[in-house]
Formats: sequence, C-alpha cells, structure tokens
Amino acid sequence: MIRLIGLLVLLMSAPLMAADGKGLHDSACLQCHSSLTGGKPNTMYTRGDHKVKTLVKLQKRVKGCAVAADVSWTEQQREMVVQYLAKTFYHF
Ligand code: HEC
Repeated sequence: MIRLIGLLVLLMSAPLMAADGKGLHDSACLQCHSSLTGGKPNTMYTRGDHKVKTLVKLQKRVKGCAVAADVSWTEQQREMVVQYLAKTFYHF
C-alpha cells in the first residue's frame, strides 16, 4: 500500500517537474503578448525599445505580468521563467 501511494505521488508530480520555464511561459504568457505585438510575442523582449534591462527588473516584470496572466506560480516557478527569458532573450 505504501509503495502504491509512493508510485501515485511520483506519477502526479512528474508533469510538474517536466514543466520547465519555457513550458510555463508559453502556456501563460504568449497569448497576451501575441495580441500586443501583432502575432510576434517574442518581439516583446527583443524590440529595440524594450523596457527590461536588468535581472532585477525582469524579476519584477515577470511578477507583475504573472498577476496579469492570472497564474498562481510558486516563487520557484517564477524563477524558472525568469531564467528562461534571461537565457533566451535578454542575455544580461
Ligand atoms: C494581459 C496581458 C499580459 C499577459 C497575460 C502577460 N503580459 Fe507581459 N506584458 C504585457 C504588457 C502590456 C507589457 C508592457 C509592454 C510595454 O511596456 O510596452 C508586458 C511586458 C512584459 C515584459 C517586458 C518586456 C520588455 O520591455 O523588455 C516581460 C519580461 C513580460 N511582459 C513577461 C511576461 C510573463 C513572464 C508573462 C506570463 C506570466 C506575461 N508577461 C504575461 C502584458 C501581458
């Protein structure tokens, strides 16, 4: 029985562990940015006059936008998204 419960816990947590920063970002953030940028959501981060210039600003922005996206991410999930954006687009 205990083994069965262990297996169930493992099965239930696997999708969470697999949900990396990109996955979280793409499911929660692309749609609104896409409508703001005429269908090119990533240009939100790469446009010439983009606002975020430092890691601290990025963390703040992700926090604020997560409210706009109506997600209840843990601090760790938010940090995964910050890392994804920093590595993929911002290269501070
Ligand atoms: C309801 C709409 C909406 C949603 C959902 C949304 N955003 Fe945003 N986002 C905006 C707006 C508006 C801006 C600001 C555009 C500007 O300042 O010109 C923005 C800007 C940003 C920027 C700054 C881009 C720059 O200028 O460098 C980041 C980073 C960002 N969003 C991250 C996210 C993340 C991460 C999510 C998902 C949790 C998300 N956003 C979801 C509306 C949204």
